[in-house]
Amino acid sequence: MSRIAVIGTGYVGLTTGAYLAHLGHSVVCADVVESKVERLNRGEIPIVEAGLEELVQDGLASGRLSFMLGAGGAVPGADFVFLCLPTPQGADGAADLSFVISAAKEIGPALEPAAVVINKSTVPVGSAMQVTLALGRGDVFVVSNPEFLREGSAVADCLNPDRIVIGGDDDDAVDRVAGLYAKIDAPVVRTDAASAEMIKYAANAFLATKLSFVNAVATVCERVGANVDDVLNGMGHDHRIGFEFLSPGPGWGGSCFPKDTAALVRIAADHGYDFGFLKGAIAANEAQFDHVADKIARVAGGSVAGKTIAVLGLTFKAGTDDRRDSPSIAIVDRLLAAGANVVAYDPAVASHPGVTTTADAYDAARGADVLAILTEWPEFAQLDYAKIRELMAQPCVVDGRNLLDPAAMAEAGFMYEDLGRWTSKAGGGVAPILSGSELGRFGRRAA
Ligand code: UGA
Repeated sequence: MSRIAVIGTGYVGLTTGAYLAHLGHSVVCADVVESKVERLNRGEIPIVEAGLEELVQDGLASGRLSFMLGAGGAVPGADFVFLCLPTPQGADGAADLSFVISAAKEIGPALEPAAVVINKSTVPVGSAMQVTLALGRGDVFVVSNPEFLREGSAVADCLNPDRIVIGGDDDDAVDRVAGLYAKIDAPVVRTDAASAEMIKYAANAFLATKLSFVNAVATVCERVGANVDDVLNGMGHDHRIGFEFLSPGPGWGGSCFPKDTAALVRIAADHGYDFGFLKGAIAANEAQFDHVADKIARVAGGSVAGKTIAVLGLTFKAGTDDRRDSPSIAIVDRLLAAGANVVAYDPAVASHPGVTTTADAYDAARGADVLAILTEWPEFAQLDYAKIRELMAQPCVVDGRNLLDPAAMAEAGFMYEDLGRWTSKAGGGVAPILSGSELGRFGRRAA
C-alpha cells in the first residue's frame, strides 16, 4: 500500500483518487473549493459518472480515501503526488499551465524526500521540466502518467485500461509509479517524460481526426447516395481500421479534444512545424456543426427564423452532464443566431442560457417544427415517436447521431434526415444530389 496525495478533484482527479483507493492505496484528495470537499467527504459527487459515487463511497467507508482543503496539507507523508489540475486552452491555443505550476510551487516545500510527483493533467511537451523547476527540489522526481479515461465510462476505463503510459528520466521513479498499478492487467509503456506527454496529445488528436474523417465520409455518402452504415461496416472489418470510434455525429467536443487538438497545433507551430493536417480536422469539425445546423434549416423549410426547434441532448455526449465545448451547444448557438426558438430536453441538464428546457422529450416536441437529436442518450431511441408526431407542428426529425431507424421513422410519417444513411430519404427528406438513375450506378439497395 502506498500513501498518495491527489491534487485537484475534477473529473480526472476524483476518478484517479477513488480508483487508487480501490486498488488498496491510502489516498488523500485535495481541492481548493471548501463546499466541494465537504460534499465529497459525505460521499456526494458533483458530476454524473457511472459507478463513481459507489467507488468514492467504498473508499470513504474503507478509510483509504479522504478529501481535504488545500494541496499543502495533503502532501506531507505522501510517497506519490498526482497533479490532476485543469489545463484550459489559452488565448493563443496553447494549454494554460498556470494551475499546475502554482500547485507545484505550493507543494514543493512540503514534499517528502524522494517523493514522486506525477503529472496526470494533459500538459505540453516539456512540462515535466517546468514542474521540476517549480517544485524547487532536487530530491524528488517528476513523472508523466497521462490519463486516457473517457467521461461517462471513467471508472470502467480506469479499471480496464488499454495501456498505462509512464514517462520519466529516472527509471526507479518510473518503476515505482508502475508498481501502483500492479493489480491492473494492462501493458505498461515506459518512456521519457516528453514522449509520454506527446502520446496523450497524439492519441487525442488521432481520435479527433478519425471522427472528422468519419463525419466527412458520411457527408460524401449523402452526396453520392451511399449508405454510411454499410460503408463503415465494410471499413471496420479491416482490423487496421476497427469499429470503435467510427460513429458519425454532429461533431466532436468535450473538455479534451478541442483544447488538445488546438494545443498540439500550437506546440507544433512553436517548434517550426505547420500541422496543417490537424488544422484541417479541426476546421472539418466546425464545418460539421454548420452541416447539421444547415440540415435543420433545410427541413424547417429553408430557414429556422421564427421556427421552434426541439433539441434532444445538450451534453457533449451521453452519460455525462458535461456541456463543455458540446457540439449540441455549438449547433444550438447557430440556431439561436438564425432566429430560432429553441426548446431543449436533456436528462442531465436542468437549464441552459437562451433555451427553454423541459422536463421530458415529449414536452420539448410539443408544437415544434423540427426535432433535432444531438446527443446519443439511449432513451431517445426508446421514445414513442407516434406520440411525438402527434405533438409536433411539423413531423420533421434531424437525427444528428444516427440513433433511430430510418425506415421506421419514414413509416411513422416523418420527414427524417440523418447523417449519410441514404435510406432516410424514404421519409421524404432532402433528395440526394444524384438522380435515381445515377444512383443506380452506385449499386444502392432498394429502400
Ligand atoms: C477523450 C478521449 O476519448 C479519452 O481517451 C481521453 O482520456 C479524454 O478525451 C481526455 O483527454 O481526458 P472524452 O472527452 O471523455 O474522452 O470523450 P469521447 O468519448 O472521446 O468523445 C469525444 C467526442 O467525440 C464527443 O463529442 C463524442 O460524442 C464524439 N464521438 C465519439 C463521436 O461523434 N463518435 C464516436 O464514435 C465517438
